[in-house]
This record gives sequence, C-alpha cells and structure tokens, in this order.
Amino acid sequence: MSTTEESPTAAQAGASATRAFRTSRQHRTAGEVTPERVSTVVTALLDGVHRTIRTHQVTYPEYVAAKRWLIEVGESGEWPLLLDVFVEHEVEEVSAQHQQGSKGSILGPYHLPGAVRLPSVCTLPMRADEPGTPLVLAGQVRDTTGKALPGAELDIWHADDAGYYSGFAPHVPDGNLRGVVVADDDGRFEISTIQPAPYQIPTDGPTGTLIERAGWHPWRPAHLHLIVRSPGYRPITTQLYFTGGDWLDSDVAKATKPELVLDPRPQPDGRRRAEYDFVLEPA
Ligand code: BEZ
Ligand code: FE
Repeated sequence: MSTTEESPTAAQAGASATRAFRTSRQHRTAGEVTPERVSTVVTALLDGVHRTIRTHQVTYPEYVAAKRWLIEVGESGEWPLLLDVFVEHEVEEVSAQHQQGSKGSILGPYHLPGAVRLPSVCTLPMRADEPGTPLVLAGQVRDTTGKALPGAELDIWHADDAGYYSGFAPHVPDGNLRGVVVADDDGRFEISTIQPAPYQIPTDGPTGTLIERAGWHPWRPAHLHLIVRSPGYRPITTQLYFTGGDWLDSDVAKATKPELVLDPRPQPDGRRRAEYDFVLEPA
C-alpha cells in the first residue's frame, strides 16, 4: 500500500474502528466477567509486567515513554487496532481449541454489520473501474456430518487493490467489497470480486510508531475476511490467504494458518478462481 494524499490518517481509521467496535455484535455480546476471573487474569497479567520490568531492568524514562505512548493509543482510537494486531490471535487459538469444522482466524477491526445481501452467485459491490485481478471464490457450506446447509450466510469483506477497506478510508465508497452472500439450496456459493492487496498497519499512529521503533514490519498478507453462519450452528469467523503471497510467513497479526491458504487458478476468461468449502459444527 503506498501513501497517497487520499490515504486515511491513522487517527481517522482509529476513530472509525473504535466507533465500529462500539456498535458491533462483539461489543454487544461481551460477557459478564466474574470478580474471580478479573482477579485471576489481571493478577497474572500484572505478574508478567512486573517480571518483565525486573528481568529487563526497565528504567523511569522507559516507564514514562510507555505511559506517554499508552495515552496516545487511547487518544488516537487505536485500541481496536493494537489489540487485534497483537492479542486477538491468541484469544482465537484458545477459543478454537474445542471447535470442529473449518479453521477460524481473527475478526480484526474492519468488519461492519449490515452489508448488502446478495444471491449465491454474485459480484461484490465495487467501483466501475475497481482496480485489481478479478477473483472468483466458490464452494459449499456443510455441517460436520457432510450435510449441505441451504441458505447459509457468508458475510465477506476485504481490502481493495491498494490495501484500503471501505468504511475506514474516505476515498473508498461505503459498502465497497462487502456483502452477505446467501448460499443456494445446496449450500453452494460463487462470489466474484477482485484480489485484495496486502494490508499495512497505519504508520502515522502509535501502533505504527511502536512497530517502527521496534524494527518490526507493519504488513499483513493479502486476505479475504468471512463470517460463515447458519441457524443452529456455531458461526466461523475466518480469513483466506493466497498461496505465495507476500508476508504470508510473517504476518504482523500472526493470524495465518496453512489450512486457510487459497491457490487460485487462472481461467480462460482472465479471472482467477479458488474453491473453498466451509464446515460448521452444531451450536
Ligand atoms: C485485518 O485483518 O485487516 C487486521 C487485523 C488486525 C489488525 C488490523 C487489521
Ligand atoms: Fe483484514
């Protein structure tokens, strides 16, 4: 992703992500956390912080720099970004320990509810001149016994060919490259879109500053996001990547899994086509 004058600032993207989280299903369904769990988990967390301070002999100037940086994370609205880059993958792994069916991955900060509903064979909303290699994602949604799930929904969203998400970049029209696709009577779907570019963490905010000052890189490999759901089944939140893609082996958000890599094949019509089936377990 290159920086252009149309690029969103980290503060704009952060504010949008914070707003999106506050109105999200994830926010609404946050569970009540018992005092016992708060005490156990926060004590362990603080133990880790204290141990790090002792082991690495953290100084007062370093403590003050950390305090200043944490204040900036809050003021710029980057808590959703920071947590989803560095923490969510671990929560997802724990949550998936007892999950059967397709592999999941992190939700990330850029899901928006209420995308347009589309039939099983569809093209995602896009600009008339949407840049990018045309891509078809086709497959079937089944349950763990192999039964097709008619009318299963595939909530899909992804970045454009420059790595920008609609709703989080002012120059991209609302709803671009987002949709809720309803599978047919046999659980099948065929979604036409364009192949997204890798995504770069905004470099002009505190998360980007941390990455730069630590000498890390700010990239996620190109990916499609999906939430696949059907009544009576546990929904799967996942991402699909592209074989041979840049950053596949060093995702800054550590959210890739070998089972989630597509291998799209060139078609005679110039498009690339990938097949992927989803398997849901009973709720
Ligand atoms: C993403 O999947 O786009 C994403 C995930 C974590 C942080 C930022 C972006
Ligand atoms: Fe993403």
